Amino acid sequence: MSDVDVTVHLTPDDIVRGLRSDVRTGLTATPKALPPKWFYDARGSELFEQITRLPEYYPTRAEREILAARSPEIAAATGATTLVELGSGSSEKTHLLLEALHRHGSLREIVTLDVSESALRDAASTLAATYDPVSVHGVVGDFTQHLALLPGTPARLVAFLGGTIGNLVPAEREKFLSGVRDVLEDGEWLLLGTDLVKSPDVLVRAYDDAAGVTAEFNRNVLHVLNRELAADFDVASFEHVAVWNEAEQWIEMRLRATRAMEVHVPVVGLTVRFVEGEQLRTEVSSKFRKDRVETELADAGFEIQHWWTDSQSRFGVSLSKAVAR
Ligand code: AVJ
Repeated sequence: MSDVDVTVHLTPDDIVRGLRSDVRTGLTATPKALPPKWFYDARGSELFEQITRLPEYYPTRAEREILAARSPEIAAATGATTLVELGSGSSEKTHLLLEALHRHGSLREIVTLDVSESALRDAASTLAATYDPVSVHGVVGDFTQHLALLPGTPARLVAFLGGTIGNLVPAEREKFLSGVRDVLEDGEWLLLGTDLVKSPDVLVRAYDDAAGVTAEFNRNVLHVLNRELAADFDVASFEHVAVWNEAEQWIEMRLRATRAMEVHVPVVGLTVRFVEGEQLRTEVSSKFRKDRVETELADAGFEIQHWWTDSQSRFGVSLSKAVAR
């Protein structure tokens, strides 16, 4: 039987402190903003699962198509002994990769990083049972804070899938990618999923679906603040907005106050006023062209070896090698 260990770099206390600090900063800023990581409590994660099955939300299916077709090639090109998964190690897409590495015969070790300790423990034991005798290291942490603490021995393949890098603005992406480069040795690998620029109609529909699931997901962040910080947001008085920001090349999700409101957030001692129509930004989801991905990777010390898209060119997966800077 494989061995499993879990290291905690982020305790429930750290998480609440982070939430308080983000709320203090974000709700006193102009315009108001909250980071997207706070969507994902149990309900938010369930809503995101539903989003991935919506007809309008193509990224998950498109990326899965690529990985289903290319995983054997990825295994052969990298010969990776360790897969380092940033984000939930339980996803079907990770399994496509792991299956290919397992078949290729190189897989010895899996490192999986997630903010949720319970999700991580479940994922880690499933992985250990499925890929026995591979050893599994779960790390409870945040991919923007705990990269340097990741275990694992070369040759490693770091996978950051789903297009989650799009949640970072350019300066944050630069920091994140060099952070990944810093933990790797020359010749190790990064597999990165990036959603691609396309018609604004298609993009906006993907973030504003007809069934209203994304709207519910967006408003869920206010439920999180109500529960965790004893805030009194009247959630029904905020409507979902998704817009394509052409200048920044990202989709922006916002919550628009349908009336003037005063909201109390006692745990951080804040009273926050919204005027009617005021919008709170809750997420950016950046979209890319290949040359942009290539440049950002090169600036961080990665060289693209393979670039694959789905059959409709909606989503890109790059496989890059860490090179000397
Ligand atoms: C999980 C960050 C990749 O940006 O498309 C889905 C989150 N937001 N619908 C994305 C999300 C609205 C998703 N990521």
